[in-house]
Amino acid sequence: MKITEEAEYKEMILKYNFAMQILETELNILLKDYEYKKGYNPVEHIKTRMKSLDSASKKLKDKGYEVTVDNLIRKVYDMIGVRIVCSFLSDVYDIVDLIKSSKQFIIKRENNYIDYPKESGYKSYHLIVLVPVHLGERTEYIEAEIQIRTVAMDCWASLDHKLRYKFPEMIPEEIRFGLKECSKDIDELDLKMQSLYEILQRYNN
Ligand code: GTP
Ligand code: MG
Repeated sequence: MKITEEAEYKEMILKYNFAMQILETELNILLKDYEYKKGYNPVEHIKTRMKSLDSASKKLKDKGYEVTVDNLIRKVYDMIGVRIVCSFLSDVYDIVDLIKSSKQFIIKRENNYIDYPKESGYKSYHLIVLVPVHLGERTEYIEAEIQIRTVAMDCWASLDHKLRYKFPEMIPEEIRFGLKECSKDIDELDLKMQSLYEILQRYNN
């Protein structure tokens, strides 16, 4: 993949790296403070990544846009991606509330694919946030996508991702069906785990 506006692209990547570092730090502070106050860490693991130019270009082309720096900034809102994986369903909602209550980010959009799963069976809570990056006198707001999900949902999404890679045109019907069944099983598993967790909390109190 080639991009002709090399200087603009370099500047963009520099700013996006700043935004990614700020987002990582602010999320860590939020979560550590939460853990300190509650005496409980809801996070299993966090992964942060910057989308490669190849994959961002592919996304633009798939959506019918030209590959320009301007389009990368305006149309690819998940150049910066953070995935927060939790043990229990209630942790997901707690973390969503925590991020929404933070003054460090502006919430641009939210997609609750947990209560409203995607057609594929995909479940996750997405927040599109604007991260303020202070550059001398200017402040720029850079978009990032935060995905929050349980370990079980993460397991499903990872298998689904592998299959999409394996069958880029179309996932065979029997596999698609199987995946949807798995998604339902995962629902059930998450609910069972949640009840066990609530029982455990009663023992602790
Ligand atoms: P893209 O799907 O990212 O092109 O943009 P969109 O506007 O459709 O946003 P959406 O909220 O649907 O998806 C955002 C991200 O969620 C994707 O980049 C994936 O990481 C994840 N995602 C959405 N749907 C699925 C799915 O069916 N399977 C898996 N594995 N991930 C999904
Ligand atoms: Mg999509």
